[in-house]
Amino acid sequence: MNVLVTGGAGYIGSHTCVELLQAGHRVIIADNLSNASADVPERIAVIAGAAPVFYQVDVRDKDALREIFRAYAIDSVIHFAGFKAVGESCREPLKYYRNNIDSTLTLLEVMGEFGCKTIVFSSSATVYGPNNPVPYREDMPANVATNPYGWTKLMIEQILRDQASADPEFRAVLLRYFNPIGAHPTGLLGDDPNGIPNNLMPYVARVAAGILPKLTVFGGDYDTPDGTCLRDYLHVVDLAKGHLAAIDYAASHPGAEAINLGTGSGVSVLELVHAFTRATGREVPYVIGPRRDGDLPMVWADAGKAKALLGWTAEKTLEEMCRDSWSFASKAGNR
Ligand code: WQD
Repeated sequence: MNVLVTGGAGYIGSHTCVELLQAGHRVIIADNLSNASADVPERIAVIAGAAPVFYQVDVRDKDALREIFRAYAIDSVIHFAGFKAVGESCREPLKYYRNNIDSTLTLLEVMGEFGCKTIVFSSSATVYGPNNPVPYREDMPANVATNPYGWTKLMIEQILRDQASADPEFRAVLLRYFNPIGAHPTGLLGDDPNGIPNNLMPYVARVAAGILPKLTVFGGDYDTPDGTCLRDYLHVVDLAKGHLAAIDYAASHPGAEAINLGTGSGVSVLELVHAFTRATGREVPYVIGPRRDGDLPMVWADAGKAKALLGWTAEKTLEEMCRDSWSFASKAGNR
């Protein structure tokens, strides 16, 4: 298939492009490089042995999108493009609503002009909000977000559901990611955020590399086995493979279907830190600090629907996630 991957130069998008190319799909990337390096398409080509087509465009640019759809008969779209920093979304909500919603509406309008009716959307476990019990199941209420970033994910899910209700031929899979971490085993692709990382694993990797002095564990007094928060960490390559299964499923299933992508189990902050040291031999100095606003004590997936509908389960271990993160971070430091 011809697959348009918006945000395909980003962390999850680039890993997904590798899997798509290796499965024989033609990949067209639309990315404005606002949060990705210009050499990522080339790295994707080196790993996959086949090059994606790359357009440096903003998905809100309707004429630029039309040009792509004129040049290629797009069979399906995987939509990653969007801002994703929770804290920044609280500081600049209008920037998030304008960018994430506008880009999606523009994309859907152009898809409609060219008769493309299949989309896989990069959603997030954050749509489950603070009131559901773990493990999160797709039939639970997902109608309260705790930050503007999360609200954009909720709103886009609703837009896709409404479009599926209006057009019986429209097909959308809403993939709700839990906590993707790790990097490609080649060390050529990984999570390399600009500035000080917000998320745990890239922060741990930079402490291990000596770039940052120590990790602050946000809270050690939660009602959990070791007092630190539990999360459902999954390897980014497993997550990428979930997208491959999702476009195949979407191609033959009209409607809008939410599907969790997670391992189905929770790992604590301290468990991850100790696993990282075991996997890499690198010490990670840390201190226990105050809780971070908005953090939930426990978040993990019920992963049964992905297995039933997509035949997908996360396979890589926490040790592989840590080892691959370190392999990328230690190479990134030398780029
Ligand atoms: C994980 C745990 C922190 C950093 C976020 C988004 C979510 C999704 C994934 C996009 C928490 C703790 C972290 C640090 C720490 N993103 N931590 N010290 O918050 O579960 O999810 O990223 O879809 O939408 O909300 O991930 O990696 O930030 O935090 O102790 O320096 O690590 O408190 O318990 P989170 P995270």
